Amino acid sequence: MGSVLSLYTTNTAYVILFFSLAEWVCAGALAVGAAAVGYLAYRSLSCKDKCCKSMVNQDIQKDNPKVVHAFDIEDLGDKAVYCRCWRSKKFPFCDGAHTKHNEETGDNVGPLIVKKKES
Ligand code: FES
Repeated sequence: MGSVLSLYTTNTAYVILFFSLAEWVCAGALAVGAAAVGYLAYRSLSCKDKCCKSMVNQDIQKDNPKVVHAFDIEDLGDKAVYCRCWRSKKFPFCDGAHTKHNEETGDNVGPLIVKKKES
């Protein structure tokens, strides 16, 4: 049974009833193919840029697979201020760069402050 699409172009619901199984399969395959191509195009165009922007660490020790700093508590002194925005030029210590980062991005990050209790 063939399509009578040209006879019923004013009533879409009525025309759909006259599509043959082969035409439905063809239309479905075409829709799936178009969706796959669209998804792949979206990923290739937007994911690379999005992935780079979503990285927390933009430029600190990028040749290192994992950036880790460790300090002995006894060596901290009375107060230590650590960067959590990853924009500090003195990383892992805060140099105030979070203020510019927050202004540019609308973010709200700030440092981690470790200090001894005042007694
Ligand atoms: S510079 Fe990163 S938290 Fe202050």
